[in-house]
This record gives sequence, C-alpha cells and structure tokens, in this order.
Amino acid sequence: MPATGFVLERIKQGEALKKAFEINRAEITDIIKDSGLKGRGGAGFPTGLKMYLCGAAADTIKYVICNADEGEPGTFKDRVILETIPEKVFEGMAITAYVIGAKEGIVYLRGEYEYLKAGLENTLDGMRKNNLLGKKILGSNFDFDIRISLGAGAYVCGEETALIESLEGKRGEAKNKPPFPVSSGLFCHPTLVSNVETFCNIPHIVTRGAQWFKNMGSEKSTGTKLISVSGDVKKPGVYEISFGMKVKDLLKLAEAENTKAVDIGGASGIVIPESQFDREISFEDIPTGGSVIVFDKTRKMVDIMENFMEFFLDESCGQCTPCREGTRYFVDAVEKIKDGKITEREIKNLRDISSCMKLTSKCGLGQSSTNAFISILDNFKEELLS
Ligand SMILES: Cc1cc2nc3c(=O)[nH]c(=O)nc-3n(C[C@H](O)[C@H](O)[C@H](O)COP(=O)(O)O)c2cc1C
Ligand code: SF4
Repeated sequence: MPATGFVLERIKQGEALKKAFEINRAEITDIIKDSGLKGRGGAGFPTGLKMYLCGAAADTIKYVICNADEGEPGTFKDRVILETIPEKVFEGMAITAYVIGAKEGIVYLRGEYEYLKAGLENTLDGMRKNNLLGKKILGSNFDFDIRISLGAGAYVCGEETALIESLEGKRGEAKNKPPFPVSSGLFCHPTLVSNVETFCNIPHIVTRGAQWFKNMGSEKSTGTKLISVSGDVKKPGVYEISFGMKVKDLLKLAEAENTKAVDIGGASGIVIPESQFDREISFEDIPTGGSVIVFDKTRKMVDIMENFMEFFLDESCGQCTPCREGTRYFVDAVEKIKDGKITEREIKNLRDISSCMKLTSKCGLGQSSTNAFISILDNFKEELLS
C-alpha cells in the first residue's frame, strides 16, 4: 500500500468550519461515524461515537481537550503537526466543539514542548483576527475559544483522566472509569478528549466526505496514520502511511538495514522479529499511537527490555499496587536475565504477574507496561536465556 500525505498538508483555513455550519450537528457526527475515524492516540476509540456521546450528554458546559502530551517513547508526530499545521488541529477542535456544544477548548501541551507555545499562541491570535475563533464565529451564533495549558513531564498525564486531574490543578493520577470524560470530565462537565492527529483528520473528512476517507486504509482502520520512525534507519522522521502497510515496507521507506527487531507502539507496544515483518500496521493487526523504533543486529534485546521496564518503573504514579509493585518486579527480572540467573519457574511467574497487571491495574499504563517485555521474551527467548 502506498504512502500518502494529507494530514500534514495545508488546507484552506476556515473552509471546513464554514461547511460544518451549513450542515446540522447530527449530520457532522454521522459523517465522522461513517468515515470510520478512530482515535490516533493509541486506544483507537471511534471518534464519531465519542462525539455522539459527548453531544448527547445533558449539560450547558462542555469542553474539548486536545491531548498533545505525546509522552510515548519514540513518538514525535504530534510535535511535527503542531510545528507545521497547528491551525488544522484548532479547526478540528472548533468543529468538534460546534458538534457537541462546547465553548471552551484546551490544548494540553507536553511540558517538554513549551518552546512551541509562543508559535501556537500566534496561530490562535491569527484565527481570532479572522473570526475563526472567538464570538459569533464566521457570522454564526457559535462562540468558541482555545487556550493552551502546559503539562509537567509525567507520562501518565497523557492518560485522559490523569490529564483532566492535572488540568484541574490536582496531582496527575488516573481515575476509575466509568464515569468516562464524555459524561463527566473536566470539573465534572462532559469533555471530549482527542489526540492532535485525530483533530487534524476532522476538517478533511468534513470537506472531502466519509467515502473519500474510507477509500484509504483497511476495512477496520480507515484513513492514514502518521508514524514516527526512529532508531537504526537512514531516514528517521514522520511518515504518513495508509493503514495496512506492512512493517517491511515501512522499513524500506525509512531505509533500514540489518534490522533485527522493530518496536511498534513505543514502551507500551510490542517488539517483533524479522519473521513478523510481513505484519500490518492497523487496528486489525498491530495498532500504534505512532511510534516505530527500529533496532539493528548490533542491539541486545535485554538492553531494550531494561530500557522500557525502567521507564515504566519511573512513570508509574504508584497509586495502585499491581502497577507500582509489578513494574519493580519486572525491572528486577531484567537484572536476573542479565546475570543469567532467571529460572523457567520465574518466567512462568512473570507471565502470570503480567496477566494480573493487565487485569487489575487501574489505567493503561500498568495494563500495557509488560507488553514489550513479554513480546521480547516470546520472540527472542533463545538470545535472552542463552
Ligand atoms: C499512560 C498513557 C499515556 C497516554 N498518553 C497519550 C498521549 O500522550 N497522547 C494521546 O493522544 N493519548 C494518550 N493516551 C490515550 C488517552 O488516554 C486517550 O485515549 C486519547 O487521548 C484519546 O484520543 P483519541 O481518541 O484521539 O486517540 C495515553 C494513555 C495512557 C494509558
Ligand atoms: S496503573 Fe500505574 S500509572 Fe495507572 S493508576 Fe495504577 S499505579 Fe498509576
């Protein structure tokens, strides 16, 4: 499947918003639903359904939040979007706000991206001057504005409930779901949280239609995906691919050589060996929020394991036992593997603990923290235990 490029394309500003005002809110929700757009932040929740649920929630105050926390190791595509086409993200947020009935939008910007803030504020000012934000946008009865709020560098604050806690000025910790943010989010008001790239798709779908979007990608993964490729490749960078592209074709694009392993999905993703490079990047096969890290044959798998497990030990917020204790247990296990002291019985225990963490951790951080470890164990057992 060929690489395509529209997400990072510039569009005529305001065109999608103007079109949105010409059709009714329910129709826009239907177009987004019909397009099959799924969240680009990793979990892949259908965006149209999220719009519908938040729109249907009864409240006079609602919020739209753009998740620009981008903390997954190896992901930098949201940064590129915000550097090149922020106006498209903001227009996507405005259309979403119009549909659900929100007046306020917030961009939760990763603390490390503070240097982008001044440029983003400039773009917002320009949009206000052009009446694309503010009061009575484009002569309609719709008021909406956006502000930027900085995170402080905690990975867990990318999780939507922790992000909302952080925006409320509290400690950034995940909350139990339900209630989901669409019914009770920021300050207990219905809140739609979506990823930067997800918002970017919305103006295109509104102007070009659901069918245009569905013509790209695969049946259950429509459209394109921005992928941040890093590691042992000659051409690292952000690639826009059609969903369904094979890993080996992406490696070709990035000019990877002597590739031993590919991590798809960052620290919370999986690590596959060469025998699986025929697999596809899609919600049906290997989903990813956008991180692909390539490792060549000089790399030791135990080092990769160690790096990811130490990341989770550092980033666990510590409020629930399976994640707080489990991440420590897995770091200790890596040490044992390095020392050649791990036993088959301990490996079985690790698999049981991993299942337990998936089932009982409060948020996605703990639930996905052992993915990379287990996939490396499954796919590179001989190297690890030799
Ligand atoms: C630990 C953790 C970190 C996350 N970090 C991000 C992030 O940086 N950006 C993001 O868009 N989603 C992140 N998510 C997913 C969000 O919780 C949420 O599903 C997403 O923002 C929804 O947007 P989408 O539907 O457009 O994907 C994270 C989830 C977890 C569990
Ligand atoms: S799973 Fe981990 S990060 Fe999430 S709430 Fe529990 S301790 Fe915190």
